[in-house]
Amino acid sequence: MKALILSGGKGTRLRPLTYTGAKQLVPVANKPILWHGIERIVAAGITDIGIIISPETGEEVKAKTGTGARFGANITYIIQPEPAGLADAVKVARDFLGNFPFIMYLGDNLIENQLTPFLETFKQQHLDALILLRPVSNPSAFGVAKVDAKGRVLQLVEKPKQPPSNLALVGIYFFSSAIHEAIDQIQPSARGELEITDAIQRLIDLQKAVEARIIEGWWIDTGKKDDLLEANRIILDTQLTADIKGELDSQSKAIGRVQIGSGTKVINSAIRGPVIVGSNCYIENCFIGPYTSIADGVVLTEVDLEHSVILQDAKIRGIHQRIVDSVIGQRSELGVASQRPKAIRFMIGDDCQIELA
Ligand code: DAU
Repeated sequence: MKALILSGGKGTRLRPLTYTGAKQLVPVANKPILWHGIERIVAAGITDIGIIISPETGEEVKAKTGTGARFGANITYIIQPEPAGLADAVKVARDFLGNFPFIMYLGDNLIENQLTPFLETFKQQHLDALILLRPVSNPSAFGVAKVDAKGRVLQLVEKPKQPPSNLALVGIYFFSSAIHEAIDQIQPSARGELEITDAIQRLIDLQKAVEARIIEGWWIDTGKKDDLLEANRIILDTQLTADIKGELDSQSKAIGRVQIGSGTKVINSAIRGPVIVGSNCYIENCFIGPYTSIADGVVLTEVDLEHSVILQDAKIRGIHQRIVDSVIGQRSELGVASQRPKAIRFMIGDDCQIELA
């Protein structure tokens, strides 16, 4: 069994963060989204992992993620020249996959469930495809499945205007080598992509063994800012353990589950967990509230912050209104220039969103 993680694509919905980097490297609880997926796959006993990368962001994914040794895996990077669809990515990975069965994992998806039980079902029942479904309130944003009472998949459609059910396709699929033949028989969709949904529909039409399981745990496709904040909240809530390596002075306190990396200094501040703070940060006269992730090298002085993600080397100074539900990009600076500010000055990149609430 192998695994294929899709970490190409354009990441347009997470702009501006994805202008300068791969969307799959945006951190959730200070760890790239992609790495959470790799860990899930390795936990299911699969260590031969191919990662699809794009020509634009691939080098960064490769440099950061490495050979796989840190995960106990062996990673092969495969360049997909154009983001021509999920089934195109499988086509591009054909040599790597050979005739092995494989898990296909979309690099921006996170699920609560472990993969092992699904892998067992897939193997024991000799399926050609096992897909995971989850009821959602906005099925039109996803691939959607219609299933019968026994869990057999009758129909799959990609982002339908009139969804046949509320069951969205989760971005984790189990395939036998039969998927390659199905992919060879499909054409690009109206949006110009070779859709994996169409390839699975083709397997169904060919009477292959395709089954679905409905998952009940949480599932997040970290496509947009609010999804990212929600993924961050859930991971901090369910996986963070208290561990303080940095220094807190006697005026500071860490309440609840708080992780602070080495070289970080906290002065006259309160941190109420779950909160993760990376290494070499400087935090003075601040309140850091629950569900906040602060990456390495961040400087915060006189700031009140909660339910937010602050990326590497950002600096925030003297903002006394509480900052909430925010994602602040790498090296961004937010500050106050005078004691009683009467005006607001901006230097904002393309596609940013600022809201004075
Ligand atoms: O998240 C689940 C959904 O993922 C499913 O419900 C849909 O059926 C499926 O088509 C997919 O939809 P998205 O619109 O969310 O796919 P997206 O374009 O965001 O791509 C998903 C991941 O695959 C992302 O990490 C980028 C990568 N990718 C995407 C394309 C189109 C590639 O590596 N190559 C590609 O050509």
